[in-house]
Amino acid sequence: MQATTGAEIRLDALTKSYGDNLVLPGLDATLGAGEFTVILGPSGCGKSTLLNLLAGLERVTSGRILMNGREVQDLAPRDRGVAMVFQNYALYPHMTVAENIGYALKIAGVPRAERDRRIAEAARSVALGDYLIRRPGELSGGQRQRVAIARAIVREPSVMLFDEPLSNLDAQLRHGTRMELAALHRRIGASSIFVTHDQVEAMTLADRILILNKGRIEQFDTPEAIYRRPASTFVAGFIGAPPMNLLDAMAEDGQVRLASGSVLARGEVNGPVTVGIRPETIRLSDAGELVVVDYVEDLGGHHVLAAHLEDGQPLRIMTPPERRPEPGERLHVSFAGAPVHLFDAVTGRRLADPAPIRSEGVSA
Ligand SMILES: Nc1ncnc2c1ncn2[C@@H]1O[C@H](COP(=O)(O)OP(=O)(O)O)[C@@H](O)[C@H]1O
Ligand SMILES: [Mg+2]
Repeated sequence: MQATTGAEIRLDALTKSYGDNLVLPGLDATLGAGEFTVILGPSGCGKSTLLNLLAGLERVTSGRILMNGREVQDLAPRDRGVAMVFQNYALYPHMTVAENIGYALKIAGVPRAERDRRIAEAARSVALGDYLIRRPGELSGGQRQRVAIARAIVREPSVMLFDEPLSNLDAQLRHGTRMELAALHRRIGASSIFVTHDQVEAMTLADRILILNKGRIEQFDTPEAIYRRPASTFVAGFIGAPPMNLLDAMAEDGQVRLASGSVLARGEVNGPVTVGIRPETIRLSDAGELVVVDYVEDLGGHHVLAAHLEDGQPLRIMTPPERRPEPGERLHVSFAGAPVHLFDAVTGRRLADPAPIRSEGVSA
């Protein structure tokens, strides 16, 4: 596949309403040339709306979209250098794989010889080189989705848009196709924008993840930064499996305490706070916070315990396979050494980084 050049994409005060429904209240962001951006957020947060604006399938209400500095928000879809892959890839059933892939080129009047060359290249790049004369009905779901991807890349776009393209595939195929997509992105060089509500897809595919909540950007950063320093309780609760524990706590005299009195961290904050602690950083111990196990999920390599604290707050803990606690069991857990995240109890925004404690109940 010949490499194309990815476009830098800038969103400038971009808004979209449907009647009274203000879906995107004003987006500002710059997506790097050749970057793989994943847009992650719950159903209904405006992900498809944003892609449709980029593709030109919907008109912006206000604001600008710039691709390599050129305003494109008023251009027709075909003049933007953008190609889109949908969840429901809707191939033409009566056409062969080659005809499906080449359809847009045919409509655009690309000469036969060039068309055939580009179709063969695109098909090869998604490992469908041997399937050109099959019809969609003779392909598996994964192969059909790859035809849809080839249909997009054959146009040699500078921007590739993917709207939940793996959602209809079964888990194993999703994993395989995910890895192929990452490799394909590196080969073709286009800027890719990939929409999903699946945090694993986001973490594994993205150069940067743009997390959308009710049409607003909660955080736009690398997967590592989003995992290590979530900007809000919304992000914290969205990333990680199981997600971060979010506990009500009180900050006083430089210490952050649970209702039980246990010190979780040291910090220069005061008043009620939300404390984030990842399940994989909590350890079972001989002393420390008392929890009661509600149920246990055995995932083979580890267990996930759903437990609760004395004051009733839920707490999830990941434990190694050797030790399988039983529902109803009372355990001590230690937060010592665990990275602790502090959030404003009202706004949910991240507060200054606290210092973790070194041992139970003793601030460092
Ligand atoms: N064509 C449309 N007409 C009216 N409302 C729409 C239309 N498309 C989307 N919406 C509304 O915009 C909001 C965001 O939808 P969407 O972008 O599809 O979310 P997501 O893709 O994140 O699940 C929803 O409230 C939805 O009802
Ligand atoms: Mg959608």
